Amino acid sequence: TTKGLKDHYKGYFTMGVAVAPRSLHGEDSAVIVNHFNSLTAENAMKMEPIHPKENEYYWKDADSIAAFAKKHGMKLRGHTLCWHAQAPSWMFKNEKGDTVSKAVLLQRLKEHITTVVNRYKNYVYAWDVVNEAIDDNNSNYLRNTAWYRICGEEFIAKAFEYAHAADPKAILFYNDYNTEMPGKRDRIYRLVKSLKDAGVPIHGVGLQGHWSVNNPPKEELEKSIQMFSSLGLQVQVTELDVSVYGGRQGGQLIQGQRDTTATFTPEMEQLQRDKYKMVFDVFRQHKDKITGVTFWNVSDRYSWLDGRGRKNYPLLFDMNRQPKKAYWDVVSFN
Ligand code: XIL
Repeated sequence: TTKGLKDHYKGYFTMGVAVAPRSLHGEDSAVIVNHFNSLTAENAMKMEPIHPKENEYYWKDADSIAAFAKKHGMKLRGHTLCWHAQAPSWMFKNEKGDTVSKAVLLQRLKEHITTVVNRYKNYVYAWDVVNEAIDDNNSNYLRNTAWYRICGEEFIAKAFEYAHAADPKAILFYNDYNTEMPGKRDRIYRLVKSLKDAGVPIHGVGLQGHWSVNNPPKEELEKSIQMFSSLGLQVQVTELDVSVYGGRQGGQLIQGQRDTTATFTPEMEQLQRDKYKMVFDVFRQHKDKITGVTFWNVSDRYSWLDGRGRKNYPLLFDMNRQPKKAYWDVVSFN
């Protein structure tokens, strides 16, 4: 094996990747082992896949990812214990189909978190405990989800407490996207500060890092890292990708074709290289605050962004799983 991403970043932070069980057996596995030293389950540990019915857990997929990480000496991030998306609908209803009470929902959340965290105690070192609880709209605070409607704000602190009780050694994160947008960042700061002030066991903030060729601006990224770490929290970039759409050249938006055959143009390539170079320069500069960087998917052959109706090329490895120019930019420093 040749020197991989993780080797270049030794002494900086771990390099992770989100995977599906199938990528551990196929041709992706060589790239995964060569370049990464941390894994996240892209879907397998989420509430609906892992807990499809009240008294039924489905462990196979998550177990296979955990076993692969252990076998290859990789770290494992747990994602995610409490989220409004990919939550099973039974969670919020009783047998009659009525919405459950706050007491029942918190009891179910406790049972879920205790069971899942306990199963992966010797594998998962860090959990995204609560995902995306902040609203995108500047005139709201918390997102209007079933969790919030039934429990109010309290479900957030409770989720952290349940996770901490199940595995006191695990590093617990609040995770969200658009963490570089000033309004949303202020609300996330308000939330995590209130948790810290109340003595809730929270240890880090996850910046998802679903960025694009024109986002985030350098100053905003740096400000987010500074603000969250000023609370004594570690920062991880948990779901990094740089979409080739949304870029601007001379004021002109690069839209791409709205189809699955859109190609990776030289313009997209250059803008994406610039963005990757900038964000990794910032990460390295703040290595005392950043403890991990995880990519969301392995190579441009498959990205979750492809599901948005047009082919994307958001990662460091191309359709043939070979390093792109942006890869060489990211590993060429000092
Ligand atoms: C995505 C997965 O990549 C998709 O396969 C799935 O269909 C939807 O979820 N923010 C998160 C991740 O926290 O869990 C999401 O993952 C991407 C956005």
